[in-house]
Amino acid sequence: MVTGARGNIARSLVRQLLAAGLPVRAAGRDPAAAHLPDTVEVLRADLADPGTLGPALDGAGCVFLYAERQGLGGFAERARAAGVEHIVLLSAAGADASSTDPIARLHGEAEETLAHSGIAWTFLRPGGFATNALQWADAIRATGTVRDPFPESWGAPIHEADIAAVALCALTEPGHEGTAPVLTGPERLTRRRQAELIGDAIGRPVAVDRQDLDEHRRDLARWGPPEVAEALIRHAVAAVDAPPPVTGDVQRVTGRAARTFAAWARDHAGDFR
Ligand SMILES: NC(=O)c1ccc[n+]([C@@H]2O[C@H](COP(=O)([O-])OP(=O)(O)OC[C@H]3O[C@@H](n4cnc5c(N)ncnc54)[C@H](OP(=O)(O)O)[C@@H]3O)[C@@H](O)[C@H]2O)c1
Repeated sequence: MVTGARGNIARSLVRQLLAAGLPVRAAGRDPAAAHLPDTVEVLRADLADPGTLGPALDGAGCVFLYAERQGLGGFAERARAAGVEHIVLLSAAGADASSTDPIARLHGEAEETLAHSGIAWTFLRPGGFATNALQWADAIRATGTVRDPFPESWGAPIHEADIAAVALCALTEPGHEGTAPVLTGPERLTRRRQAELIGDAIGRPVAVDRQDLDEHRRDLARWGPPEVAEALIRHAVAAVDAPPPVTGDVQRVTGRAARTFAAWARDHAGDFR
C-alpha cells in the first residue's frame, strides 16, 4: 500500500512497483487527483479519518507512509491489526523528536510513533528535494525570472525517483528493516545554479532576482504554518556559503548513482515551459 497517492514520491513509487511487476494499491485523500494508470487500484483513505483505512490496509503486507501531522498513531494500530509487516516512512534528514525545529520534530515524532508500533520499519531521511524548485514554475513560465531571497544558499537536491527507488528496495528486499538511510542528490549546488540548469533544460535563460524576505514569507505560507516557514528560512540562511554533505546512500541501497539536478530539470522541463 502506498499512501499519499498524489504525492510526487508516491506517484513515482507506484510506477516503479508496476514496472517491477509487483502488486500495488495506492491510497490518498483524493484518489482521482493521483493521475495513476488505470491498472492501479486507488482507494480513498485519510490518516486523520481512521474509519477510511480498513479497505486500504486489508491484506496490504507492507506500506509506504508519509509523515502526516495527524493520525499516524491510529494508522500504526490499524496496520498492525491488519497484519502489516513493514512500514517504510518518508521522514527527513535531521529528524529528531526533541528538536525545537518544527520540521525535525514532526519527522522525529513520526519515527518514534512507528518505532513503538511493533511493526518493522525503515526510515528514509532525505535532505532537500529537487521538486522544491517547482515553486518557481509559475514565475519561470510567466517571466523567465526566479525570485528568491537566498540565491547563494546551497543544497544537494534529490530527485523524487531516487527516493522512490530506495523505497522500492526497502519494500521488496530483505535487510532494510531497522535502517535509516540519509538520502541526497549526487552534487552540491546553489539555488542560482539550479535556476541556470532549469534554463538549460528549457532552452532559454532563467534569471534570478533577490526577493524581499517578507514577500518570501508570504510565498512560504503554502508549505505550512508560520513556524514552518521560519524554519525553512533558517535552513536556507544556514546553507548560504555552506554546502551540505552529500551521502552515497542512494547508490549504496539501489546500486545506481543518484540522478543529477540537470537530469531532474530535463525530466520536468514541461513544468517550466
Ligand atoms: N520538500 C523537501 O525538501 C523535503 C525534505 C525532506 C522530507 N520531506 C518530506 O516529504 C514530504 C513531501 O513529499 P512529496 O514531495 O512526495 O509530496 P507532495 O507531492 O508534496 O505531496 C504530499 C502529500 O500531500 C497531499 N497533497 C498533495 N497535493 C495536495 C493538495 N493540492 N491538497 C492537499 N493535499 C495534497 C497528498 O496526500 P493525499 O494524496 O493523501 O492527499 C500527498 O501525498 C513532506 O511532507 C516531508 O514530510 C520533504
